Amino acid sequence: MTNLLKGKKGIIFGALDENSIAWKTAERAHEEGAQFVLTNAPIAMRMGQIKELAEKTNSEIIPADATSIEDLTNLVDQSMVILGGKLDFVLHSIGMSVNVRKGRAYTDENYDFTAKGWDVSALSFHKVMQTLFKKDAMNEWGSIVALTYMAAQRTFPDYNDMADNKAYLESIARSFGYFFGKEKNVRVNTISQSPTPTTAGKGVKGFDGFISFAEKMSPLGNASALDCANYTLTLFSDLTRKVTMQNLFHDGGFSNTGVSQEIVDVFQE
Ligand SMILES: NC(=O)c1ccc[n+]([C@@H]2O[C@H](COP(=O)([O-])OP(=O)(O)OC[C@H]3O[C@@H](n4cnc5c(N)ncnc54)[C@H](O)[C@@H]3O)[C@@H](O)[C@H]2O)c1
Repeated sequence: MTNLLKGKKGIIFGALDENSIAWKTAERAHEEGAQFVLTNAPIAMRMGQIKELAEKTNSEIIPADATSIEDLTNLVDQSMVILGGKLDFVLHSIGMSVNVRKGRAYTDENYDFTAKGWDVSALSFHKVMQTLFKKDAMNEWGSIVALTYMAAQRTFPDYNDMADNKAYLESIARSFGYFFGKEKNVRVNTISQSPTPTTAGKGVKGFDGFISFAEKMSPLGNASALDCANYTLTLFSDLTRKVTMQNLFHDGGFSNTGVSQEIVDVFQE
């Protein structure tokens, strides 16, 4: 351990169980000396194991539905009281598509489902940042990160309306990143992560084929949840102060690979 985040304070959204990317990030941030508040939707409190993580990382939990401004306002206020001041980092690790959950095809969307999924997966990032911005809750040179997937740039049919949500999320990072940078010296980035076996990941149809394909396509292999946590920590650290408004691929090289030898071999006679 290097104490990379010693003295830093933050909020981590989205730790549901030990597979969650946010869970691994919380564990690693704790090991690197950070203090933080854990939060998740009230329903996830009942279904997940966040209390275990809170004990392990010596953190408090504040439930918040990330689509509710009232919940987010309470979360930010309470976090600053608990942590004794402004925040240095925030992780938005939230995603959910009702169309995916209910098995609706992209060509047969229920638009109420679409709107709900967009609110949870994309607009919530704006709501989180607007709440932080208005309350002036971030310290200078703080860092805000959200997680995304490459379906925002290239089509993966089974990723469904989450692809559109991720494109919107990435755009919010750039747009809000401008204002957060100009006015508060705070950076905002998205990390575009490899397929990862979590509750959200495994909810995508054909996930097993999908993750194996990505593994064979990526020169370095897929990035795990722990790899993603470690990368996120670098963005929370003081070593990346001038990185902002970026969508950063963290995928073992998948996004820049046309085809790999392993995939060619599958089709070679
Ligand atoms: N797993 C993958 O293959 C993969 C790949 C790229 C990006 N991502 C992204 O990583 C992020 C984290 O997902 P994960 O893979 O760790 O899965 P996960 O299921 O462990 O985490 C998703 C979290 O979103 C939370 N959430 C849902 N609705 C919410 C709401 N209204 N308010 C607050 N929280 C809410 C859930 O409770 C859960 O904790 C998501 O943005 C996901 O899209 C995942």
